[in-house]
Amino acid sequence: MKVIELRGIRKSIGQEEILKGIDLSVQVGEFLAIVGASGSGKSSLLYIMGLLDKPTEGEVFFEGERVDFSEEKRLSELRNKKIGFVFQFHYLLPEFTLLENVMLPAIKLGMKKDEAEERAYELLNSLGLGGKERRRIYQISGGEMQRVAIARALINSPSAILADEPTGNLDSKNSQRVMEIFKEINRRGTTIVMVTHELELAEQAQRLVEIKDGAVLSDRAIQRA
Ligand SMILES: Nc1ncnc2c1ncn2[C@@H]1O[C@H](COP(=O)(O)OP(=O)(O)OP(=O)(O)O)[C@@H](O)[C@H]1O
Ligand SMILES: [Mg+2]
Repeated sequence: MKVIELRGIRKSIGQEEILKGIDLSVQVGEFLAIVGASGSGKSSLLYIMGLLDKPTEGEVFFEGERVDFSEEKRLSELRNKKIGFVFQFHYLLPEFTLLENVMLPAIKLGMKKDEAEERAYELLNSLGLGGKERRRIYQISGGEMQRVAIARALINSPSAILADEPTGNLDSKNSQRVMEIFKEINRRGTTIVMVTHELELAEQAQRLVEIKDGAVLSDRAIQRA
């Protein structure tokens, strides 16, 4: 079964075509890495996969449903319930606690406060942040912030996690730690699409898609020794 399917996706901004006809499917349970040079269109592609941006041409299917980009209500429902986003600049609320940041997407969907809090505690604990739940974002390190962002992306049990350079501002030890977390989440069944410029990380995924000048240059399964 496919979580996300892109058919003939093109995206133009002004005169420039930044995505030039992309066909790409992501299967349930897959861990896909997307690599490519700066400016090749990786983020643009991820935003379309995450229903954050509308293609100029082509179709997007989410869990088999053809996405209508003019139906804002349905779009935000799918984004909130089915997709977890992790960005390089994680967009956490600095003045709020770790707990509050992680709970927020669940509260938005109507989860009871007690339940959201309990789940946020569990997630933070499982990501090695137990004991820091009541700190504010500005009181933790960049690596810890990235893990809070992952906890926040997971709270609504999404079908897929879409991550854009989630290790972009981390040292290699923290990058690997984030990678191990993604692998574990994936083992438990969540589909992951991760954009990275670090080949060493990308090669730990199951499948590697290379983007060049807005098109898919290669798409292959990663062999392991
Ligand atoms: N809002 C925008 N307006 C104009 N051009 C844009 C916009 N967003 C992206 N682009 C252009 O589209 C191309 C692809 O950008 P994109 O951000 O998808 O690349 P990327 O592969 O993610 O690069 P990086 O590795 O640097 O993050 C670039 O040439 C960029 O300048
Ligand atoms: Mg980018």
